[in-house]
Amino acid sequence: MSELKTTESDIQMDEQLFGLAKDAMSKAYVPYSHFTVGAAIRTASGNLYTGCNVENAAYPEGVCAEGGAISAMVLGGDREIKDIYVIGKGEHLVTPCGGCRQKIREFASADIQIHICGPEGVRKTLTMEELLPHSFGPENLQQ
Ligand code: THU
Repeated sequence: MSELKTTESDIQMDEQLFGLAKDAMSKAYVPYSHFTVGAAIRTASGNLYTGCNVENAAYPEGVCAEGGAISAMVLGGDREIKDIYVIGKGEHLVTPCGGCRQKIREFASADIQIHICGPEGVRKTLTMEELLPHSFGPENLQQ
């Protein structure tokens, strides 16, 4: 396995994926939280998928941006995430929620990068292992 820690010099913003995530954020349906989130995935095959958060009147049933992008990815026939950009506004980092960490983990190896962005660009880059340490994944089901 490769070294897990990322340094600032490792982080090269992918303008295309960042732009796609930002466009996705602009489509979010958030009449309840008013908090827009966008996500963009590049897969091992080079395909790109996006998602935005979609809320509904039964508040807990809303869908996160990452979950939407993952659904699109699987529907598109891809199952290996190489990079993911997540973008939101506000001063705090829009780190994927707990449920989304597990959803990303299903299709990601420990060393892939998750880029947490604000409207101006990447604010923090974390590996899967950093975002969800000691995770339970498909391999853990092996007996
Ligand atoms: N949200 C996401 O889309 N992704 C996350 O990882 C964090 C939270 C959404 C869910 C809800 O629509 C809004 O942000 C406020 O929680």
